[in-house]
Amino acid sequence: MALWPNKRRKETARVCDANASPFAVFENVGLTIGQRKILEGLTLSLDERRIGVIGLNGSGKSTFIRMLNGLRTPDTGDLKLFGAGFAEAEQELPHHVGFVFQNPDHQAIFPTVEEEIAFGLTQLGADKAESRIRALEFLERHGCAELATSPIAELSEGQKQLICILAVLVMEPRLLVLDEPMTSLDALASRRIRDKLLSLPQKIVMVSHDLSHFEGFDRILWLEDGRLRMDGNPHEVLAAYCRDIDGRSGIKMELAAL
Ligand SMILES: Nc1ncnc2c1ncn2[C@@H]1O[C@H](COP(=O)(O)OP(=O)(O)OP(=O)(O)O)[C@@H](O)[C@H]1O
Ligand SMILES: [Mg+2]
Repeated sequence: MALWPNKRRKETARVCDANASPFAVFENVGLTIGQRKILEGLTLSLDERRIGVIGLNGSGKSTFIRMLNGLRTPDTGDLKLFGAGFAEAEQELPHHVGFVFQNPDHQAIFPTVEEEIAFGLTQLGADKAESRIRALEFLERHGCAELATSPIAELSEGQKQLICILAVLVMEPRLLVLDEPMTSLDALASRRIRDKLLSLPQKIVMVSHDLSHFEGFDRILWLEDGRLRMDGNPHEVLAAYCRDIDGRSGIKMELAAL
């Protein structure tokens, strides 16, 4: 979870426009690590409410979405986030972007579930006692009251993932960026989180290998070897992606939910 000093939250939020439309503009953006081009020639604007990102393992999805909250810096091209240049926007991004990591162990920082959720509320200005009460209410609303006092380290992988999603949701960020957020969730938790995500007013950019998670999405970006292979409406892009997988594997892929 991104950290920032609560008291300076409002004073420092000057460069970014939370209502900027589009909220991200990539112009020929690339990133090379060592000798390897991880992302290359990305030119696109992001504005839709629900944007999915797909691609094979290692295609650059996590690297790409990490640029949206400043965890990765492009080394070529031009990236504007919330109307500001990347370098200027970087400091402010944690105010606007909630990021759910692919691996919950990279995100959770507090010993217990309740503290992890309450932290987000203190960042929004609530005092400690109020944060605790609201955290408990929030956990109860999401069917997780019994986990409140559990040490995060002792949760199952799916429970950790769920708590990490809730810890970001509680802060109501302007943009939610989720990196394979539901891989370990059981069918019930997955359904609840999907319904919750779809009902949120915030914009969402989500990576998933489970294509059924993109039901109700507006746009899909398909990355291949760090480049944008296809960008468009979910029906067309997901169908093309499935055809590509079919061709590579010789096994027909089902796209039942879409
Ligand atoms: N810190 C790093 N140093 C070197 N190479 C890296 C680093 N981070 C990512 N890469 C490489 O960049 C490529 C893209 O990685 P990335 O994690 O963005 O892929 P991904 O599409 O999210 O894959 P997955 O579906 O497996 O999560 C991979 O080949 C990976 O090895
Ligand atoms: Mg990834």
